[in-house]
Amino acid sequence: MKAIGYREPGPIERPDSLIEFELPQPVPQGRDLLVQVQAVSVNPVDTKVRRNAAPAAGETRVLGFDAVGVVHAVGGGVSLFEPGDVVWYAGAIDRPGSNSEFQLVDERIVGYAPRTLAPADAAALPLTGITAWELLFDRLQVPRAGSAEAERAEPATLLVVGAAGGVGSVLVQLARGLTDLVVVGTASRPETIAWATEMGAHHTVDHHQPLQAQIEALGVPPVRYVASLTQTDRHFAQIVELMAPQGRFALIDDPEPIDVRLLKRKSISLHWELMFTRSLFQTSDMIAQHDLLEELARLVDEETVRSTARAHYGRITAANLQRAHALQESGAAIGKTVLAGF
Ligand SMILES: NC(=O)c1ccc[n+]([C@@H]2O[C@H](COP(=O)([O-])OP(=O)(O)OC[C@H]3O[C@@H](n4cnc5c(N)ncnc54)[C@H](OP(=O)(O)O)[C@@H]3O)[C@@H](O)[C@H]2O)c1
Repeated sequence: MKAIGYREPGPIERPDSLIEFELPQPVPQGRDLLVQVQAVSVNPVDTKVRRNAAPAAGETRVLGFDAVGVVHAVGGGVSLFEPGDVVWYAGAIDRPGSNSEFQLVDERIVGYAPRTLAPADAAALPLTGITAWELLFDRLQVPRAGSAEAERAEPATLLVVGAAGGVGSVLVQLARGLTDLVVVGTASRPETIAWATEMGAHHTVDHHQPLQAQIEALGVPPVRYVASLTQTDRHFAQIVELMAPQGRFALIDDPEPIDVRLLKRKSISLHWELMFTRSLFQTSDMIAQHDLLEELARLVDEETVRSTARAHYGRITAANLQRAHALQESGAAIGKTVLAGF
């Protein structure tokens, strides 16, 4: 089968930064599905691993942490899916990725793909959708609209830093569609302001200007929740300053050291989200990712959540993936970049 990977870490401009090669088709065992991949998307994790992590000597590492495909074969312990099912998933950081014609993935982190989206449009959503969902509901524990807790809760604002990026685009939609929070997203360019607004942000503020004065001018409820999706070290101190006492701050990026002592005076809690944690440690609740992908697909099919695909870069080739990595590394991505077909 055809696969795309890299042998040595390095800049994307190097001609062999990603290469096409042949691999034997793997055989599923246990709870693994063998999926024939139809479409993928590119995330910052692809570029971080490619730049920094050397594969074992003589090996070619396959990246790709978003896929839509068709179940081709199943291991003996599989109970949730059967051959022919159309599925979506992000996969695991410690296993070969989705940039290959066939991929093994544990059924507990896989869901049925939405019926109403083309594979390329659906491939934009799994990794960022899992991240946004876990951040909002597992880490920050934001009450779902209509719940008894939401009825009791005082009006509150969620600040989303990096609202037009891959994660922000779906997080804003989930917060708007499933919670009562006022959603303020940060975006700095006309096209990202327009995109974040289209995704459902009630307001946007510019992350290159002081945030507190901009948020005060909006007259929104206190900022009790923060989703800091990028550049956390740059914004941390001013965000703590503008947050409500006893608020909750979540982050997902890889910041330079931040001074968590700033949180003490307001008793603000700090929450990390890493969407690979459940699969990496095979946690007992790993199947929560299957459940949330199923719910996300339902939300897509009932048009509460839309695809965040913004750019379609053609077929899954080394050259097209190089272009997609370069866009992702520019820091100016809007929504997601997707590729389909080998
Ligand atoms: N922990 C996890 O599970 C997890 C999962 C997914 C991603 N991540 C990490 O989360 C980060 C964001 O991922 P992503 O896919 O959403 O990124 P992305 O799509 O590359 O984000 C691009 C956005 O960042 C905004 N941005 C640029 N400079 C900024 C600044 N100084 N302050 C605030 N925003 C700024 C841009 O807005 P403007 O163009 O308007 O400036 C742009 O819309 C990455 O570090 C990624 O590795 C972690």
